Amino acid sequence: MTDPVDLVVVANRLPVDRVVAEDGSVSWRHSPGGLVTAVEPIMQRHDGAWVGWDGGPDGPDEVFEQDDITLVPVPLSAEEVEGFYEGFSNGTLWPLYHDAVAKPTFRRDWWEAYRAVNQRFADRAAELAAKGATVWVHDYQLQLVPAMLREKRPDLRIGYFLHIPFPPGELFAQLPWRRELLEGLLGADLVGFQRVGGAQNFVRLVRQRLRHKTHKDRVYLPDGRIVEAAAFPISIDFEALAAMAATEEVQARARDIREQLGNPAKLLLGVDRLDYTKGIYDRLEAFGELLAEGALSVEDAVFVQVATPSRERVDEYRRLRDEIERLVGRINGDYGRIGRPAISYLHASYPRNEMAAMFKAADVMVVTPLRDGMNLVAKEYVACRDDEDGALVLSEFAGAADELKQAFMVNPYDIDGMKSTILQAMRARPRDLARRMRTMRRTVAEHDVADWAAGFMRRLEEPREHHKQLRPFDDA
Ligand code: ADP
Ligand code: F6P
Repeated sequence: MTDPVDLVVVANRLPVDRVVAEDGSVSWRHSPGGLVTAVEPIMQRHDGAWVGWDGGPDGPDEVFEQDDITLVPVPLSAEEVEGFYEGFSNGTLWPLYHDAVAKPTFRRDWWEAYRAVNQRFADRAAELAAKGATVWVHDYQLQLVPAMLREKRPDLRIGYFLHIPFPPGELFAQLPWRRELLEGLLGADLVGFQRVGGAQNFVRLVRQRLRHKTHKDRVYLPDGRIVEAAAFPISIDFEALAAMAATEEVQARARDIREQLGNPAKLLLGVDRLDYTKGIYDRLEAFGELLAEGALSVEDAVFVQVATPSRERVDEYRRLRDEIERLVGRINGDYGRIGRPAISYLHASYPRNEMAAMFKAADVMVVTPLRDGMNLVAKEYVACRDDEDGALVLSEFAGAADELKQAFMVNPYDIDGMKSTILQAMRARPRDLARRMRTMRRTVAEHDVADWAAGFMRRLEEPREHHKQLRPFDDA
């Protein structure tokens, strides 16, 4: 048990995963995903505690320190991992909130597991938070936590941030538990979204489904509380990554990577969790067609696709892996030469300096999600291009498209459009690339992750108003 703290972050994942080897030995590995990339540097600079799951079944619950952060594990049983994490979080909410690009499954037993696990996270945060403390709850796995926490600890200031898109009402309405999820979020004082559209969808749904009064970005609850909903586009630690990319070690490794790939005229790169929302299949298909038509050859271009292992026990993810690996095999079989595959496919996680070297080595970064809350990879690529070269091909359906307007924009559903834009990016003149990259670097440097967190916290810490006509004593 640790002393009460003034700032508690509550997220499904801790920044590290517990890995148990076959011989029973335990080690810790960096957790995947954008949430950890963004929140970790913030927590390293602030005192507080991070409540989260360690990534496996039946982990220990002792508090520990890692890289200057106090970590408070919430253990999950194997059944809870299945029902709460793989089931309701990643079989129901994840596909539904991403435009239903895969079919969401609605199961009552998954919902029960989601509720029970959310309650456990809320209880843990309630134990840890000092009187009047600030609790910042994160992401779609924990949408019930704000209300559960408020029920136990009305003294707390509660913020919530959704890292993924918040869907339009037509999709959200499919959820049998839509009411409970909205009420869960309304336990927060401030509900943050990646994009303005997400905040608007939420406020509209609250008005239509719960019949609460709303005005602009505010919800007026019957008990007098006012809940605010606003966009806070998440970002990266630009300076730290730019500094890492500028080191001689990373630059040398970038040259080394190009050499190992046979010094192609152009190196194209994709970096994604192996997830069906990321548009990996469509982008590789576009690249394959360019090779098939002779618009490109393996002498002109090599595609490196890093596909980070993710949610490997969920059926949809297994299927996706099979489909992508079959496609990569086919393209390499048809167009590769000895020592010169068309696609270099890497199914693994890498340290941050290796990622920086890949970003530094790539002439064209291809980021084509079908839907994405933000996509930090796009911002990381920009941060690593200190020579103001390199082209970013970016889906208009990624949150990052709102800020990185100088990217080569694509509709990932339009394969022909994607092909011509990839060629345009590959053939762009250095002056055009420098002009685009300079502006994008300025944008990301100005709106870095510290700016994101400070903006959210400033808004959360503003004095809370209560709306007049519904104050309990007004009834008297
Ligand atoms: P998501 O949160 O959906 O995974 P983002 O693009 O926002 O997508 O964030 C992904 C984060 O994970 C980035 O910081 C990226 O650098 C990191 N990442 C992705 N793939 C790997 C990998 N194979 N090894 C290490 N880090 C990775
Ligand atoms: O950023 C979206 C996100 O889903 C995070 O919530 C999550 O931590 C990350 O991607 C990786 O997914 P998972 O935790 O399921 O491995």
